[in-house]
Amino acid sequence: MPKVRKAVFPAAGLGTRFLPATKAMPKEMLPLVDKPLIQYGIEEAIASGIHNIVIVTGRGKSAIEDHFDVSFELEHLLESRQKTDTLRAVRQISDMIDVAYVRQKEALGLGHAILRAKDLVGPEPFAAVLSDDVIDSEVPCLKQLVDIYQFYGCPVVALMEVPNDVISAYGVVAAEPVSQAGHGPNVYRIHDLVEKPRADEAPSNLAIIGRYVLTPEVFGAIESTPPGRGGEIQLTDGLRHLLRSQPIYGVKFEGKRFDAGDKLGFLKATVEFALKREDLGGQFRDYLRTLGF
Ligand code: G1P
Repeated sequence: MPKVRKAVFPAAGLGTRFLPATKAMPKEMLPLVDKPLIQYGIEEAIASGIHNIVIVTGRGKSAIEDHFDVSFELEHLLESRQKTDTLRAVRQISDMIDVAYVRQKEALGLGHAILRAKDLVGPEPFAAVLSDDVIDSEVPCLKQLVDIYQFYGCPVVALMEVPNDVISAYGVVAAEPVSQAGHGPNVYRIHDLVEKPRADEAPSNLAIIGRYVLTPEVFGAIESTPPGRGGEIQLTDGLRHLLRSQPIYGVKFEGKRFDAGDKLGFLKATVEFALKREDLGGQFRDYLRTLGF
């Protein structure tokens, strides 16, 4: 079974849900406590054994490239002021990954963004990570997917049960649990996928969350996929096409997911991540108590 070595991060979206903050700043760079959203996803990839990162960017996204680059002036300054811990934190991320960028010139959809990475990925399995979805878990969510990929050698998507009143914001699957020796009860064989169905037409309450392990055949499937929801080329539709030639599995992952691309979800993630921090959690908890909730 080929190893999953690469992860694609679509990051060319316009971030309209977060205006005006994202007018001049990529939404992927919004900080949760003190790290940009995309760094959480990249650290999850690293913790899942994936070090080759492909970021699909667009206009106005150069801050992402600068963030993962070496900053000589900053490092020199921190060194001369003997800020060793900060220097380590600044260096760590650019040291840990091998990153390549490809441009998505027009925002034509998630499927189209993934397709832009075709040449950089080549003929091997790869992960895709949507950095809006921040997942706090004991075992990294991507690792949970990679483990199932390694068993079946087929595409695997992350699944989560969501209430009916929000189901139309997601890709939704029709699926049945597989009872395979060695797996928990959280692995599903997928029979159909629908992008953002109406609540009364959703095939289940199992929504796709932004973590995927994909096989290279997905590129051909996306190429044969016409524009769908919102006039965009959807990854979900590409996977539906792929289902004709390959089984697809889903994992109801263990962990807590935050929709950090949404203002309320972002606030929830900020509070929970800050409370967990050794250096800030105690004081922040004391402060929240004074607010009397
Ligand atoms: C994308 C996918 C959708 C998935 C969602 C998860 O939608 O198209 O299938 O359920 O991410 O966050 P978006 O939220 O980018 O509109």
